[in-house]
Amino acid sequence: MADPLLVSDEHRALPPPIERALALFESPLSPDEVDVRRGYLDLLGERDPTGAHLGQRLMLSRVLPLIYQRFWRPTGARLLMGLTGPDTGEEHRMALEMLSIAPGARVLDVACGPGNFTRDFATAAGGDGLVVGLDASASMLATAVRETESDNAAYVRGDACALPFRDAAFDAICCFAALYLIEEPMRALEEIVRVLAPGGRVALLASCNRGPVPDRLSNAVVRGLSGVRVFGREELARALTGAGLVGVEQRVIGLAQFVSGGRPA
Ligand SMILES: C[S@@+](CC[C@H](N)C(=O)[O-])C[C@H]1O[C@@H](n2cnc3c(N)ncnc32)[C@H](O)[C@@H]1O
Repeated sequence: MADPLLVSDEHRALPPPIERALALFESPLSPDEVDVRRGYLDLLGERDPTGAHLGQRLMLSRVLPLIYQRFWRPTGARLLMGLTGPDTGEEHRMALEMLSIAPGARVLDVACGPGNFTRDFATAAGGDGLVVGLDASASMLATAVRETESDNAAYVRGDACALPFRDAAFDAICCFAALYLIEEPMRALEEIVRVLAPGGRVALLASCNRGPVPDRLSNAVVRGLSGVRVFGREELARALTGAGLVGVEQRVIGLAQFVSGGRPA
């Protein structure tokens, strides 16, 4: 029998990328759950899974998306990775290299913000591919929708810790500059691994503890002050390996770490 999501009258008028994204969902949505009035599929409504710290609340502001891509993100990257660290263009190239997105791939950008990486992935996946950007912030997603012209990109307002997608739905999954803001990052990581297809690739960019201060102390201080979690140097690579991913590689730059790996085919 055909998937009711794809044939019901209520869904006929949906933008095609959202309709294609719905086909990757774990369970069908009822028509009243399909809210696409703002150009993205809103699964949260009044719910807000982001935390109470200032750094986390900022992501929901209306102003931040206006300065995020030109000012906030490059400045944050400099602070985290230093003046000799990768610039924005280099970071985008690194993401594409770590993910090896093939034409036709299904790609998930977890905590996509204003879609700054999502759009690159849409280009790499091509017309037969599909890219889904998921974020909890309505204001970030409004910018993402406004600035994305690709007809193979869909945006979803949802919680990274409870992804709505079925197991093994995606060939490539990116989560950049966000795990350290997510309330339960290890839960989000489990979700990322769950929805990654055999042979699929994952790429992460997160904070990294350096120097003599123990991980727990660094984390307690920085998180207490800013809401940003500091991951141990081994923590994320170990979590991916422990979840069965292979070829796990880590590159530490300043106070940041890029971690990638693949699910065995
Ligand atoms: C700094 S932005 C990163 C955007 C983009 N990935 C980048 O590399 O520039 C972090 C994003 O994480 C999102 N976020 C935080 N907690 C989340 C959660 N539980 N579920 C989904 N998104 C979340 C915020 O709304 C914000 O847009």
